[in-house]
Amino acid sequence: MTKVRDSFHSRIGFVLAAAGSAIGLGNIWGFPTQAANNGGGAFLFVYLLVTVLLALPALYAEIYLGNQAQKNPVSALGDACSNFSEGLGRKAGIIGLSGAIMMLSFYTIVAGWMLAHALSAITEIIGMTETSQWLSTSSTERNIIFTPIFILLGAAIIHQGVNAGIERWSARLMPVLLIMLIGLIVYILQQPGAEKGLEVYLIPDFTQVTDPKLIVSAMGQAFFSLSIGVGGMMVYGSYMQKNKDMGKLVLSITALDTGIAFLAGLLIIPALFVAQEAGLEVFSNNQLIGEGQLIFHILPELFNSMGTIGLVVATGFFLLLSIAALTSTISSTEVPVAYMVEDKGLSRQKATWIVSAIVLCSSGLLIAFFDVLFGAFIRVLTTIMQPLSCLFYFIVVGWLWKRGNKLRDQSLQEGRKWLPIWGNYLRYVCPILLSVVFINVAILN
Ligand code: PHE
Repeated sequence: MTKVRDSFHSRIGFVLAAAGSAIGLGNIWGFPTQAANNGGGAFLFVYLLVTVLLALPALYAEIYLGNQAQKNPVSALGDACSNFSEGLGRKAGIIGLSGAIMMLSFYTIVAGWMLAHALSAITEIIGMTETSQWLSTSSTERNIIFTPIFILLGAAIIHQGVNAGIERWSARLMPVLLIMLIGLIVYILQQPGAEKGLEVYLIPDFTQVTDPKLIVSAMGQAFFSLSIGVGGMMVYGSYMQKNKDMGKLVLSITALDTGIAFLAGLLIIPALFVAQEAGLEVFSNNQLIGEGQLIFHILPELFNSMGTIGLVVATGFFLLLSIAALTSTISSTEVPVAYMVEDKGLSRQKATWIVSAIVLCSSGLLIAFFDVLFGAFIRVLTTIMQPLSCLFYFIVVGWLWKRGNKLRDQSLQEGRKWLPIWGNYLRYVCPILLSVVFINVAILN
């Protein structure tokens, strides 16, 4: 008897889970930091452009590949390339899977910091000043405690399966995240100095938009933010019934992800100027003083200056980041778990623990050799592996697909005149555009 594959039970469940994967530290920390460092409005403008022209089509291609195959990313890519070389497709799937493990190795460390900072604010409220101090100061011991806690939280959800775990928890956590974010924005915008921040963020300086460094940063940010190129979106796509209306779903996911990044900018950039107004040093030469400082020093100092209410705001803010990180962690974890369950015949429970153990070891390695490995992992993943995987998806969907370009010859086409145009866009324009930016990355590095 063939086992029925676990799946999402509704379209909205799928959208929330995929948006949960997309919305994470990349949106709430990465995007505002990059925007603040790259001229505010100019970055926002280029980011939106790159998202529409390149990241959205890549997300479509990734989800589409998984959805057609109804299999984990390794088998899905193997199937998709079977008329050319199944082995090549499977290898690309394994590379994506390693990307997911790489992502988890640094992401769970940073997510651990968020949890520690949330607890730091709570312990401060109840008067445990020393503990609070320890929790807010970075140290190897803190990493050794909080990274495994975060990995375990993710494992506990994955363990429960696609519908009972991923879908249910995404549907619970995502609205909480949105409410917290809006609450924080309303609060910050009422503080003195916020207006100047709004101006910098919303009015682009068009002399900056052609800067190649800015374009490359925006692309890396957009790919990371939409979780493209490590198989997480592919595996979620495979848990959705084969669907003719995928375009709408992909649009909704992109809109949610971009909307939250935009809102996070609306919170953090004004907050920086509020901090500046309060006498804190935030920028030097138009650059933020230390990227990490943005949320771990500047914002906490700002929260501190607000008295007790500031501690409540701080708790909310860091819990928000922890929740966002959790729903992103589970999508990456699901990639190797689905592969082990479907291709290696392991039980979901066993696969979850094995993957968690692997992630624990690799993040342990990063903690031990933090200065050398941490930044390098992030750079390799976002500037090399993710764009290359996307290029591969475009080539598979546009060129290698077994029966020619499925987007053109499938039943999908009925009554949809724009599909051939979309097919050609994926086939010709996207790979060229991506290669141009990619070559720029190579030159800039
Ligand atoms: N998109 C997530 C974020 O913005 C990160 C992520 C990358 C999640 C790759 C899954 C896969 O934080």
